[in-house]
Amino acid sequence: MTLTGKTALVTGASRGIGRAIAERLAADGALVAVHYGSNETAAKETVAGIEQAGGQAFALRAELGVEGDVDTLFAGLERGLAGRPLDILVNNAAIFAGKLDEVSPAEFDRLFAVNVRAPYFIVQRARSLLADHGRVINVSSGATRIALPETAYAMSKGALDALGRNLANQLGDRGITVNTVAPGVTDTDMNSWLRESPGAGDAMAAMTALGRIGRSPDIAAAVAFLASPDAGWVTGTWLDVSGGLFLGPRPQPAG
Ligand SMILES: NC(=O)c1ccc[n+]([C@@H]2O[C@H](COP(=O)([O-])OP(=O)(O)OC[C@H]3O[C@@H](n4cnc5c(N)ncnc54)[C@H](OP(=O)(O)O)[C@@H]3O)[C@@H](O)[C@H]2O)c1
Repeated sequence: MTLTGKTALVTGASRGIGRAIAERLAADGALVAVHYGSNETAAKETVAGIEQAGGQAFALRAELGVEGDVDTLFAGLERGLAGRPLDILVNNAAIFAGKLDEVSPAEFDRLFAVNVRAPYFIVQRARSLLADHGRVINVSSGATRIALPETAYAMSKGALDALGRNLANQLGDRGITVNTVAPGVTDTDMNSWLRESPGAGDAMAAMTALGRIGRSPDIAAAVAFLASPDAGWVTGTWLDVSGGLFLGPRPQPAG
């Protein structure tokens, strides 16, 4: 219970990696704001699961990437926190986009509005609400380390990587740490092709040093470390949480 008495906002916590992060931070003792865009049922399930496990959480709806998104988000957050500061901000919500030829200008703009503009202005607004010695953790992607065909998505996460490094230097005087976590291929709705294409999961596992694809709690564990008091001297880092995806050719098993 390293986070007892702390508060956290996890964006995109209704499903997938964000849900696992919210569950883990709540299990570690934090009161968690479970943010979502439209899937109220899933957000309520996240909150109910946390409460059944003895934790504290509340759901918070705000569609990101539209006019007034950050105002809506912080109105709900401040209501839920009822005068308490924010100790942990996890910028996790994001959308995916297709290959170079598949992305229209409108899709490109929406991608950057959700994946880049929203975290930027969330951080801008959160600064006054964040407690000294607080934590900011951005969820990027291994797609900024390797060259995948989904160019625009990788570009948006590259911008988030730059935001993390830059912020770490600006918020350090208040003891606030800012770090970036980069998952590899993780079994969530964003990767529905893993469940739909036979053999896809095995193929990705074969390109991963630890021999399997990621699960959302794997990512949540890394975020929980960065949110914990033990990580107080860790800032400005980019942490690969991919199980060693695409490190290079893997040796063939003997025989
Ligand atoms: N899965 C992977 O393999 C993988 C790999 C590398 C990095 N990542 C990163 O990990 C993070 C989580 O990914 P995931 O796989 O868990 O995604 P996911 O399963 O698709 O869940 C996305 C979450 O973000 C919310 N969201 C999406 N668009 C939103 C918007 N416009 N406004 C508000 N909320 C919005 C969704 O809310 P609703 O439920 O309301 O729609 C949902 O809670 C993302 O930053 C992603 O880029 C994922």
